[in-house]
Amino acid sequence: MAVPHSFTTRLIAWQKVAGRHDLPWQNTRDPYRIWLSEIMLQQTQVATVIPYYQRFLASFPDVAALAAAPIEAVIEHWAGLGYYARARNLHRCAQQIVAVHAGKFPKTSEQLVELPGIGRSTAAAVAAFAFGQRAAILDGNVKRVLCRHFGIDGFPGVAPVDRALWQLAESLLPETDIEAYTQGLMDLGATLCTRGRPRCGYCPLAAECVACRDGRQGELPQAKPRKAVPERSSSFVLISDGQRLLLERRPPSGLWGGLLVPPEGEPAGVLARLGLQVTGQRELAPFKHVFTHFRLTLQPVLCEVATNQVCAEPGLEWVEIAKAADAGVPTPIRKLIRQVASAAD
Ligand code: ADE
Repeated sequence: MAVPHSFTTRLIAWQKVAGRHDLPWQNTRDPYRIWLSEIMLQQTQVATVIPYYQRFLASFPDVAALAAAPIEAVIEHWAGLGYYARARNLHRCAQQIVAVHAGKFPKTSEQLVELPGIGRSTAAAVAAFAFGQRAAILDGNVKRVLCRHFGIDGFPGVAPVDRALWQLAESLLPETDIEAYTQGLMDLGATLCTRGRPRCGYCPLAAECVACRDGRQGELPQAKPRKAVPERSSSFVLISDGQRLLLERRPPSGLWGGLLVPPEGEPAGVLARLGLQVTGQRELAPFKHVFTHFRLTLQPVLCEVATNQVCAEPGLEWVEIAKAADAGVPTPIRKLIRQVASAAD
């Protein structure tokens, strides 16, 4: 039998004395409970999950009950946990276990990973905790622990680093005590080797940790390389008859899909398209808004038109200036309208 890495033996010994042993999903071998907890814990912290987990189990005590429940009831029990695809996959997974596996969870991570919503790491966690199977987990917390301990450079989200981490995770698995080892990795990541301010003074592995030795805890794991954000700029024409603003509903898809926004484009072109005559026009101060994928400089132009002008273009609405900011407009437009509204006061 291969000699286990000292990382592995130390982690198991530490988990047994200092790890968590009383979480609601521990001290059971019920794969349903373990699976449910692992799905809830994928993007959500333990303290938030606990009451949801308990309410969920009270309503859906086993996989058959969950499979038979209407999806609406499942979503209702998930409301507030976020990432609702998890709830839909959970329900589909329960139905698949009933239909394909006669209501029994498959026992290997290879079979579990085939089910909806169960990725490689979750499959391994369920296989280890419910069936004692020797399988490697690698969630965000575990990646952080491994990158720091073994001094692994590169962003863990890219394929070569991810592959290296999986290989390392597999190579560290113990021959026995897979449950304590797996829980130990989770406990270490959640309680000591945290993202900000790791508590290396309490860490059972600190003596052999590369990040601790070199003072690189803040650098590892490396952050996602930031791409330069493209810059765009666009004019928005605030057409006002003194009382109201002319807003245009955007097409359903694309930026601000379905929302009301002042017409976008060069003022002369916009006014020609709408067939409007202006009585006055001035540029307002441009301002920036940062989206996920680009930065937009909005150049607002205020155009005064006579009252009672008719616009036949579809999707246009005259909205009282005082109400326009709350008429379902996007955030930067709301700021802009507030500026115009206060200037008009
Ligand atoms: N995070 C993911 N799985 C967990 C578990 N079983 N216990 C505590 N935190 C977790």
